[in-house]
Amino acid sequence: MRRVEPAAALVGDIAVPGVKGLCQRAALLAAIADGVSEIRGFGHAADTDVALDAVRELGAGVSEPSPGTIRIEGVGLRGLRPPDHPIDCGNAGTLLRLLSGVLAGQEDRFVLTGDEQITSRPHERVAIPLRQMGAEVETTNGSAPVTITGGSLEPTSYVLPVASAQVKSAILLAGLFAHSGPTTVVEPVPTRDHTERMLTSLGVRVRREGSEISVWPVESIPPLDIDIPGDFSSAAPFLVGALLLVGSELRIHDVNLNPTRIGFLDVLERMGARTTVYDRRSSGGELVGSLGIRSSELTATTIESHEVPNVVDELPLFALAASMAHGISRVRGAEELRAKESDRIETTTEALRGLGAHVNAESDGFWVRGVPTRFKGGLVESRGDHRIAMLAGIAGVLSREGVEIDDPDCVAVSFPDFFELLDEVARRDFVPEES
Ligand code: S3P
Repeated sequence: MRRVEPAAALVGDIAVPGVKGLCQRAALLAAIADGVSEIRGFGHAADTDVALDAVRELGAGVSEPSPGTIRIEGVGLRGLRPPDHPIDCGNAGTLLRLLSGVLAGQEDRFVLTGDEQITSRPHERVAIPLRQMGAEVETTNGSAPVTITGGSLEPTSYVLPVASAQVKSAILLAGLFAHSGPTTVVEPVPTRDHTERMLTSLGVRVRREGSEISVWPVESIPPLDIDIPGDFSSAAPFLVGALLLVGSELRIHDVNLNPTRIGFLDVLERMGARTTVYDRRSSGGELVGSLGIRSSELTATTIESHEVPNVVDELPLFALAASMAHGISRVRGAEELRAKESDRIETTTEALRGLGAHVNAESDGFWVRGVPTRFKGGLVESRGDHRIAMLAGIAGVLSREGVEIDDPDCVAVSFPDFFELLDEVARRDFVPEES
């Protein structure tokens, strides 16, 4: 249990852990590279550390010569070997999906498993296209544990039935091992393109034409030399807190600003958020910059299905922001939220309603009646979902009476020091207004 007290404002200069999905992708590609890769700015968290453990168990050499700098000695494109036990992906759905794509190209039999949440999330969506390419993939009731017997793969052309960057990435990674090219994925709606960018920066031939992304096979992968910027999804809770607390002035430095990741920034801007982006630059094929946030009055908006993939991990925070905005906000076409670490339509609604917000679940999203005043406060059960625990932490600083969080430690999945950092920037020298 953890209690987060109300705050007057969020003030300061902060940095957040490196992009989780880039750390995981870099670890996987470094493991099959020729030579020693260096990954700087590695964001240690349960989901990223488990990727390092996995590649170590598969035969890659992993060391950390200085904090946050990871060296990985690759085993070459087809050199991964199974340990004598299942590889544990913990809570990391991205790792399970992407690693499946890489293992589909290895001549051996691998078993992947994970924690309770992961073993109830859908995996057939990855297994089906990988089977189509020639890998043998067995799921357990459609989920993990998964057994993959890889080998020589056929290129494929696959129309994604759901907009998922994880599924797209698994297929593109498998496409590296196909006997010819291209392997093509057709997306119903654009999803995050970290995999495409990282492969391109390694010299892999990748082409995007409209909704089709194609990759060509490779003989080898060169070692990576990469700086990982901060994760926008870890910056987003602070962004919302600073926007909603009058008098806040927060700067979040060196955040990944990949356009397919920052849909939430666009949503907040159309709600009236005053944010600035400065120090923009490009690094390792990704855009990076710093965010300046000042408190702003927000008005309601609607998020339609075509926007969902680029805000998907921030939708719980959208519900929070919308709860304190003027008017009625909606999210439509977000049924994928039900397949995340928890059923985030239910867990978001449950968490915020318990604090006095007016959030209503729908089959494909939720609607929110905003009341621009502080939440009362109360208890939030995180349900073991890191994004719900962080949502509760921000709701705590925005409340009148504070928020108790049951199972707060699951923030370690993506952001182990979340609560400490929140405490550091929270100004508590005030008396919250009554309403
Ligand atoms: C991710 C893609 C998203 C996201 C997840 C990370 C990735 O999942 O929710 O946290 O790194 O590719 P889907 O693409 O399955 O929606």
